[in-house]
Parts: sequence; structure tokens; C-alpha cells
Amino acid sequence: MQALRNLFRAPWSSDVKLDGQTAVITGANTGIGKETAIDLAKRGARVILACRDMEKAQAAVTEIIESSGNDGVVCMKLDLSDSKSIRGFAEEINKNEAKLNLLINNAGVMVCPYGKTADGFEMQIGVNHFGHFLLTYLLIDLIKRSAPARIINVSSMAHSWGSINLEDINSEKSYNKSKAYAQSKLANVLFTRSLGKRLEGTGVTTYSLHPGVVQTDLWRHLSTPERFFITIARPFTKNSIQGAQTTIYCAVEPSLEKESGGYYSDCAPANCSAAGKDDELAQKLWELSCKMLSLSWD
Ligand SMILES: NC(=O)c1ccc[n+]([C@@H]2O[C@H](COP(=O)([O-])OP(=O)(O)OC[C@H]3O[C@@H](n4cnc5c(N)ncnc54)[C@H](OP(=O)(O)O)[C@@H]3O)[C@@H](O)[C@H]2O)c1
Repeated sequence: MQALRNLFRAPWSSDVKLDGQTAVITGANTGIGKETAIDLAKRGARVILACRDMEKAQAAVTEIIESSGNDGVVCMKLDLSDSKSIRGFAEEINKNEAKLNLLINNAGVMVCPYGKTADGFEMQIGVNHFGHFLLTYLLIDLIKRSAPARIINVSSMAHSWGSINLEDINSEKSYNKSKAYAQSKLANVLFTRSLGKRLEGTGVTTYSLHPGVVQTDLWRHLSTPERFFITIARPFTKNSIQGAQTTIYCAVEPSLEKESGGYYSDCAPANCSAAGKDDELAQKLWELSCKMLSLSWD
């Protein structure tokens, strides 16, 4: 029904300017993150690309400066699979940046073979959720001081196939790559919801979103039959520019200023799964995340 409605809706666009604002975008060297960076740079923001591969990141910076005409675009090293790297990145930001108005937790890995982060977390929950949870925690005071500010977590409709395995969040007993991805994307939705409640009254608002089915490098770990299916489905998918629009909408749309904790798709509020609205589960995930990361964050 929503899809049918979207067919008859004009594409979302906005001329909101972001002069004087600073944005951090994780995983912005390619795909949805890079297109988001180009758009925010065109609106006048200072944009910091937080990337694990500095060669790819520097190439993206050059491209973004060329296409936006904004030379306030830089890159910094951030590997979300290593808490030392996350802490080092946050330390630099806290030391050198006067403000942070937009934190876009965009980086992600999907259906990769079983692997662990430097801190011993299963790779998908480790990068997609724990890494961004820690990053947000370390930057939250700066973000609050920069209010009005927004935190955006790029989730997926895959969250609705997921559950949170509180007993075995790192899939050590059994690993299903699709379930682990869905778990990590449900964690993005629940984190956004919990964080939104905790930030009430601070001027910092939170959003999670599904960008669409987007032709990017994310699909690198798909099997050959899965790739074949995606190739056939290509006409029904989005390119990276189209895939970035809901992130940009959550970052700049004025009517969302007072909204917080919700889930969006196709540049509009959307329904997340029942698990995504489960406050008890959200609280348990919050407590588990703090425990796993040895944080105290109320
Ligand atoms: N594409 C889709 O259809 C789709 C659908 C639903 C949701 N999403 C979500 O959209 C977001 C962006 O994905 P995308 O489609 O643009 O994929 P992408 O083109 O593969 O981009 C992912 C980005 O994340 C980075 N990254 C991966 N592991 C990292 C780590 N350990 N530390 C720091 N950065 C890391 C990648 O860096 P490298 O380039 O160095 O690998 C890349 O810059 C993800 O959260 C994904 O789950 C995508």
C-alpha cells in the first residue's frame, strides 16, 4: 500500500542550507554514505568522512569537493570493528571540532562469513551496532552542546526479520549470516528508540531508516544465486543517489525537528516491526551493549 502511495507522490526535495554546521558520516567513502556526504556538502556543511580505508576515503573527499564546490570536506580514520580506533577517532573529534550537529551512523557490513571484531564481537553486530553505540556514547556531550542536533542510524527493512539473541548476541553457538545481519539492523532501530527517549529535552533528536534496496558494494558477500536474483531485480532497486534520500530527509527536513526515536522509509515516517517497538527489549539491548562495551550510560 505504502509502495503504491509512493508511486503517486512527488520525490522529496528540500533547499535547507547547513552553513556553519558539522556532520560526521561513517562509511562515507562509497555507496549511500558518499551520496549523503555530497548532498550535505552542497548544503554548505563541514563534512567529516569517517572511514576505515584512508586511500578510498581521500579519493572520495576529492570527488565530493569537486562535485559540491565545498572544500570543507575532510576524512578521518575510523574502524568500527576496533574500539581503540573508535576511541581514537572520538578523541580527535572532541579535541578539534567546536560542534557536531549531525552524526550519521551509516557504515555497515552485510551477510559476511563468520568473523570477529578486535573486541571479540561477531562482525555484523560488532560493526553495525556495538561500534556505532560506542561512537555515539563518546560523542554525545559534544552533540548535546551543539543542539539542535540529529543522530541518524541507517538500518534496513531487514530489521523486521530479526530478533535480538540476548543469550548469544555474538552468534557463538550458531551463526546464520542473514539472521545476524537482521539482528544488527533491529539493534539500530531499538538503539534509536532508546536514545531518543534518553535525549528528550536536550534538542538532540534521533532517527532510524530503511534506505531502500540500493545498488552498492554492500552486496559483496552475497552468493552467486543471490547476486543473480539481485541483477534480475535491478529495475526495481535504487541507485546510491536515490538510496541516500531518506538519510538526507532525516538529517534536514524541518518538520522532523520535534520528532525523535522513529523509523523512516522513502522520505516518510514508516512502520517498523513489533520487535522494533518493544521498549523492554530496547532496554535489555541497551544494558547488554553497556555491559559488553564496559560503559556506564544511563
Ligand atoms: N544497499 C542496500 O540495499 C541497503 C539496504 C538496507 C540498508 N542498507 C544500509 O545502508 C548502509 C550503507 O550501506 P551501503 O549500501 O552504502 O553499502 P557500502 O557501499 O558497502 O558502504 C558501506 C560502508 O561501510 C564501511 N564499513 C564497513 N565496515 C566498516 C568498518 N569496520 N569501519 C568503518 N567503516 C566500515 C565501508 O567501508 P569500505 O568501503 O572500506 O568497505 C563502506 O564505506 C549500511 O548500514 C547498510 O546496512 C543498505
